[in-house]
Amino acid sequence: MKKDLSNIKKSKFYLDKNECVGIPTETVYGLAGNAYSDKATSKIFKLKKRPRRNPLIVHYCSLKMLQNDCYTNNNFFKLYKKFCPGPITFVLKLKKNSKISKNVTNKKNTLAVRFPKHTKTRKLLKSLIYPLAAPSANISTQISPVSKKDVKDEFGKKIKFILEGNESKIGLESTIINLKNKPQILRLGGIEISKINKVLGTKLKFIKNKKLIAPGQDKVHYSPGIPMRLNIKKPKLNEAFILIKKRKIAGKNLFYLSKNKNLKEIAKNLYKTLRMIKNKKYKSIAVEKIPNKGLGETINDRLLRASKF
Ligand code: TXA
Ligand code: MG
Repeated sequence: MKKDLSNIKKSKFYLDKNECVGIPTETVYGLAGNAYSDKATSKIFKLKKRPRRNPLIVHYCSLKMLQNDCYTNNNFFKLYKKFCPGPITFVLKLKKNSKISKNVTNKKNTLAVRFPKHTKTRKLLKSLIYPLAAPSANISTQISPVSKKDVKDEFGKKIKFILEGNESKIGLESTIINLKNKPQILRLGGIEISKINKVLGTKLKFIKNKKLIAPGQDKVHYSPGIPMRLNIKKPKLNEAFILIKKRKIAGKNLFYLSKNKNLKEIAKNLYKTLRMIKNKKYKSIAVEKIPNKGLGETINDRLLRASKF
């Protein structure tokens, strides 16, 4: 407990000095910096090799602080009440007098905001007088990190500190919804669209290739950097084979995502497994078919992008 507190203090120490810190969230780990600081947010882009045109998500723990920066509306409050803190990101209209760095928004008049659930990150946010800009803590287009070790894998000594927070419970990024005008799903994620529709009384669907609305949703993304084949029944020789359900057959090229086709478990293990296969230096990956329902839709979206290598 004492150690946790001192690690949160350490994170604050570096963040106050405009340094970047790795932070745990329930979705994936983030690379965080003071969202009001040009210096800190510039560092995020540089470390990630992220194109400047791709805006950042800003993390809050209080509504009051959010309202310094954005206009809220009824749809926002409905979803906030139901899902926050949790894996949902809202795109809202930015206030003219907000202190958010221009780097974060790419000079646009909207801001993507999120209330992460992870206890340590919430404690950290509570101790700060600014919100945290935090994209996923991976080099641009690569696999997102779900543990402190993964973040180390990506940045090594280039970042000053990573706050330890165990493996991310969800293992996939947040769902992004644009609430500036008529609600629109910009990215599939940890919360199923059907749940959002229930709360809003809408029939929203995810429409692919709405590119440049969520500019980071390029075709190639979440990539292990090796060819990947989807919906495969039988792997090729020496190919890593990802299966969604444990089988009796053995083989060191077999990687199971869950015991019994549980989509939450599959989601949680997906990035970890892709990273493991990459580190084992396989030359290609085959993936068994994954049901395209609920979280399965998000998982398939990520796999499809990861396969566009
Ligand atoms: O779960 C998550 O959302 C994780 C954790 C760390 O919070 N973060 C994350 O950030 O996935 P990132 O940067 O990897 O993905 C953010 C996505 C990008 O596709 C970006 O283009 C989009 O959000 N985005 C950011 N600001 C936006 C805005 N104002 N309008 C539309 N899309 C925006
Ligand atoms: Mg990302």
